Amino acid sequence: MEEFEKVAREAATCKKCNLSKSRTNVVFGEGNIKAKVLLIGEAPGFNEDKEGKPFVGQAGKILNEVLLKIAGLERSEVYITNVVKCRPPNNREPEQEEIEACFPYLDFQIRFIKPKVIVTLGNVATSTIFSKFNLKAKSMSQIHGQLFLVSSLLYGSLRIVPTYHPATALYNPKVSETMKNDWKKIGEIVKALN
Ligand code: URA
Ligand code: SF4
Repeated sequence: MEEFEKVAREAATCKKCNLSKSRTNVVFGEGNIKAKVLLIGEAPGFNEDKEGKPFVGQAGKILNEVLLKIAGLERSEVYITNVVKCRPPNNREPEQEEIEACFPYLDFQIRFIKPKVIVTLGNVATSTIFSKFNLKAKSMSQIHGQLFLVSSLLYGSLRIVPTYHPATALYNPKVSETMKNDWKKIGEIVKALN
């Protein structure tokens, strides 16, 4: 069996943290495992937990739109996952302990996919990835849409771009505009790779 598939199957029955008790399905991720672009959200919500797929609810609709219409990226050009693979009860933020318990899966995904660009969606994904790559944590309003370069033997050379979580754009027109601008830049960054 292919390694990626093997780890996904392992995760499907994972009990490494308390979120395993309330989840319906583990949401490992979805998309092209050879993608140059990896999108990282926070955690599955109600619909994602039900379907076992990331970003299939309201936030997913917004994400699909900005991806395709603004960044000009097809779903087949990206892989999408979350920091934690199981839904936290009532969609609360994942706790640090849960993030740490789940991190080996995300770490595996980054090493296996070896994306050229990682887009972190929202504060949880941004702080998790920034801390992983020893980047200085700053507030989203200061760093959104900016390109951060990191490079290591294990991960290759990576461009990290933080932006707002699509769910925060749902009821906030100002964030929505800012986020769309970020996606324009992300589209340009990806186009410039080739
Ligand atoms: N919000 C997230 O962070 N991830 C999902 O998969 C869905 C909503
Ligand atoms: Fe395992 Fe991650 Fe689910 Fe916790 S959130 S049970 S570590 S897959």
